[in-house]
Amino acid sequence: HMKGAIFDLDGVIVDTAKYHFLAWRLLAEELGFVFTEEHNERLKGVSRTRSLDILLEIGGMEFSEAEKLAMADKKNRLYVEYISGLNESALLPGVKEYLNSLRARGVAIALGSASKNAAFILDKLNIAGLFDAVVDGNKVTLAKPDPEVFQTACKELGLQPGECVVFEDAEAGVAAGKAAGMLVVGIGKPEVLKEADLVVAGLHEL
Ligand code: G6P
Ligand code: MG
Repeated sequence: HMKGAIFDLDGVIVDTAKYHFLAWRLLAEELGFVFTEEHNERLKGVSRTRSLDILLEIGGMEFSEAEKLAMADKKNRLYVEYISGLNESALLPGVKEYLNSLRARGVAIALGSASKNAAFILDKLNIAGLFDAVVDGNKVTLAKPDPEVFQTACKELGLQPGECVVFEDAEAGVAAGKAAGMLVVGIGKPEVLKEADLVVAGLHEL
């Protein structure tokens, strides 16, 4: 049975996935190619640098490391501008209720996100206090689908992989959870999150 719950952030806790998409799309537009929502599925859950590599692959473009660093910075400045006004109303349906019900049942709660903006976002949403451990893009080096982020979160909770359940909206994140040996609840569409053990539309369904 579940002793620990590890939540992805963007697209599971908060509706920020659309801002990541808008920022990447603008960057692509400036580079002269069209970046669609379908393309964007490949970037969900994936670290900033790896996302840029995938984006440039889609656009069929190559740049130096220095140029890529500047582009990644630019994307992040756009993204941070989009999310600067974030507040509790951006929480996805059922999030607070579900986190509170887990806490009441004694389930430990961790964040397992690739984002380097995670602490800033939790703070804006006023929910940092609900997490026993926060593992984000500043703590891990390997991008999802590598299991590192969930393994680290599980360790920080003092649990074994088989005792943890991962909640993920991204294909790469579901794959990371499975690679970590955990049960994975997909948040989104079953046809996209094929590897998940169970798929729901949102935490409000649980
Ligand atoms: C999450 C999002 C990705 C994003 C990544 C890095 O996993 O789903 O779309 O690229 O975090 O976020 P950051 O805020 O560090 O750019
Ligand atoms: Mg996500």
